[in-house]
Amino acid sequence: QKLLSQPLHFGYVEHEGIILYEEGDDVVKALKTFEVRDDDSWIVTYPKAGTTWVQEIMSCVMHDGKLEEVNKRHTAFRVPFIEFNLPKTIRQENKLPLTYQAVEQIPSPRVIKSHLPGQLLPPNIWDKSKVVYVIRNPKDVVVSYFYFLKLINPNDRSGQTFSEFFDEMMSGKILYGPWWDHYLSFWKMRHHPNVLLLRFEDLKRDLRGNVEKVSKFLGKDMPAETLDAITDHCTFANMKKNPMANPDSILADTAPREGSFMRKGKVGDWKSHFTVAQNEAMDALIRDKCYGTGLTFDQ
Ligand code: A3P
Repeated sequence: QKLLSQPLHFGYVEHEGIILYEEGDDVVKALKTFEVRDDDSWIVTYPKAGTTWVQEIMSCVMHDGKLEEVNKRHTAFRVPFIEFNLPKTIRQENKLPLTYQAVEQIPSPRVIKSHLPGQLLPPNIWDKSKVVYVIRNPKDVVVSYFYFLKLINPNDRSGQTFSEFFDEMMSGKILYGPWWDHYLSFWKMRHHPNVLLLRFEDLKRDLRGNVEKVSKFLGKDMPAETLDAITDHCTFANMKKNPMANPDSILADTAPREGSFMRKGKVGDWKSHFTVAQNEAMDALIRDKCYGTGLTFDQ
């Protein structure tokens, strides 16, 4: 954690039409032959869909609900972000491998985080590992992503208005590409036995039910008290005040920041950001991109 005691600057590359964090193109090429294990579980999402929330649930489940063990290490270390790397200079100074190389050394069972769209993940992931994917109403994703990019890139983004960011999201020229391609690539896989598709809005409605669903999917038959304890550990309020579950505790070390990663954690915050015209444009885009796929969103 102390490695991060300096401001970070994130660069970007484009690979197969998708904007990735710098060196992401090299990582994606290496992932083509990455050794996926039978007992791996992956949390894969479009950014801001509820990754941190579900990775915490999965990590608790894979620790068999032993929360004192979970709380010994920060979530970013328990659930490594496979295509994301510290800048090369910091890695070289500290003789650190790329994240995926570190993941190769982690003993089983591993929980691995990725924001890569389906086509860029290791090709045998579907047949070998369990994949949990989270979908969130794209309107709330736009709002959450707007604040998140200001938080991690204050130099580039602090002056950006919501309206400017909205247009950027609508164009699809954004880190990890357009949400619609990302969602649809996993939506198509939703009936695959190794894929569990969750909704942010369902997690808000029934966290306990979703914790149970995740535990069953990951092959754990847990007693009710353990499921209750994990549910309590994973509420917004408890994750926000837990330095081992809240990404703010790592971000705070890198530079002074305004705002918070654990921002509001609500459904429908878009209603206090979108203009009528933006809402109509987004509805039209959703109709256009999701028509005939069966994918719809709660308001
Ligand atoms: P907001 O910015 O709307 O608050 P990701 O982890 O994919 O980057 O998503 C971050 C979003 O999930 C943020 O949304 C964050 O507040 C929300 N979130 C994280 N943990 C949560 C929890 N336990 N309950 C509800 N929302 C949570």
